Amino acid sequence: MKKLIVANWKCNPVTLKEVKQLFNSIKRGIKNLKYVEVVICPPFVYLPFISSFKLGAQDCFWEEKGPFTSQISPLMLKNLGCEYVIVGHSERRAFGETDEIINKKIKAAIKAKLKPILCIGETLEERRKGKTFQILKEQLKKGLKDISFLKVHRSSFIVAYEPVWAIGTGKPCQPKETKKVLQFLKEFIQSLNYFGIQPLFLYGGSVNSENARDYIEVGFDGLLVGGASLNPKEFVKIVKICH
Ligand code: PGA
Repeated sequence: MKKLIVANWKCNPVTLKEVKQLFNSIKRGIKNLKYVEVVICPPFVYLPFISSFKLGAQDCFWEEKGPFTSQISPLMLKNLGCEYVIVGHSERRAFGETDEIINKKIKAAIKAKLKPILCIGETLEERRKGKTFQILKEQLKKGLKDISFLKVHRSSFIVAYEPVWAIGTGKPCQPKETKKVLQFLKEFIQSLNYFGIQPLFLYGGSVNSENARDYIEVGFDGLLVGGASLNPKEFVKIVKICH
């Protein structure tokens, strides 16, 4: 199975010129990679300008179309060439997105034949209180409610473990610790009775070229890269390390 390296550009860059520069630099650095799948998730407005790599969106709405000012539907994304969509990123959850909303979005994404990347992760406070596993369990259980894995191929469903305290802080979760979390997530998904089918698991949170390999070595199927994906040299390094 190819390793999945997802670039989450978040709300960057602010000009199309910069988008093209960033994209072209990444493209020049990454060629003929057989063992890595690179997915670029730019802001919605830049989606039509990215090619050569797999395309992902950073969010989606749950309805196909209608009177929902400003919303972007999964079907629109699919028709624009997207294959993936990030759902439930902690920066979205911070805007009040609940597990119930996330569940609706995942279902809508699957219906539109997009591959959802469900983000889960505990805050620093939750971690300090020893609630990490409880939070992850809740986010998974509610996020995956009534979703039949049997209809979804393994590589079509992705769960990203992104501890909130590790995102954009330069303080990644130690690989040893993420290994324990990964084991827990696999066991928990097993217990949800999806007939042994497991999603792909990504790690995200201050990933860089120094630590990328460690997460692959402890068993993750790929990485969700934020800040480092805006630095083409660094991102290309990360991709090559995982190859
Ligand atoms: P980061 O972001 O790599 O900048 O920590 C990861 C993410 O938010 O997906």
